[in-house]
Amino acid sequence: MSIIIKNLGKTYDTLESEDKNYILKDVNLTLNKGEFFILLGPSGCGKSTLLNIIGGFIEKSEGILTIDKREIYKPSRERAMVFQHPDASLFPWLNVRENIEFGLKMKGLTKEERNEISDKYIKLVGLDMHREKYPSELSGGMKQRVQIARVLSNDPEILLMDEPFGALDAQTRGILQRELVRIWLETKKTIIFITHDIQEAILLGERIGVMSKSPNASIYKTYDVKLPHYRDVSSKEFNELYRRVQSNFDKEVKWIDSSELVI
Ligand SMILES: Nc1ncnc2c1ncn2[C@@H]1O[C@H](COP(=O)(O)OP(=O)(O)OP(=O)(O)O)[C@@H](O)[C@H]1O
Ligand SMILES: [Mg+2]
Repeated sequence: MSIIIKNLGKTYDTLESEDKNYILKDVNLTLNKGEFFILLGPSGCGKSTLLNIIGGFIEKSEGILTIDKREIYKPSRERAMVFQHPDASLFPWLNVRENIEFGLKMKGLTKEERNEISDKYIKLVGLDMHREKYPSELSGGMKQRVQIARVLSNDPEILLMDEPFGALDAQTRGILQRELVRIWLETKKTIIFITHDIQEAILLGERIGVMSKSPNASIYKTYDVKLPHYRDVSSKEFNELYRRVQSNFDKEVKWIDSSELVI
């Protein structure tokens, strides 16, 4: 499914002034079916807002957003979202397994079919020992893993992932990064993945879009990552690209208050 974004803008009208306050302004992006695209940008620039607009959870204020030529105005099963804050998406009254199987149940799969799929992904994200627990009994990283397992088991056309691995320990993050690349290589799903982490961006993505700071944030530069998977973070080519992305990123964020600097 190809995604076309043209001159997309998002404003939140403030009560104090008549002026429009653009969080996003003139965002342009064309994504081909099967691309693994990374959205990289400073904290607060509007990455989650943009992803939520693509997911159909937030309304755009202006511009064009289409998927396979269809205008996007509401969420759909074809686009699955891993939210930055997992509490927003897990059902507190369902346990881990039931949360993961929820979408499969809606699709009409039998109990056996659901169990087989949820089993696979529960193991993958390392939650075998916790499958009967409820969200209130899980840590933040565990909740995030439930979200990831649920999204992967639903097998959507487009994966929208908002800093999915940010709250995880280094080992789990490494496992899931590799697994996501494997899934992408096997299925060539379209993925939009947000991160603050340049290394993670270059490790995973085929193309990296760097966002400028808000207000009026847009995607101001993109990089093609031509390195074959699985990538070696210690290789010369990896580090050359890392330095190129970082120097540009530093220029963009240099006068942001250092307390807001997350990279
Ligand atoms: N409902 C809202 N009303 C007004 N302003 C909002 C609203 N939601 C978000 N914003 C503002 O939009 C801007 C972008 O927020 P967003 O969460 O998209 O940033 P982000 O790039 O995802 O940040 P982070 O990296 O910290 O997750 C912020 O300045 C935020 O204060
Ligand atoms: Mg965010």
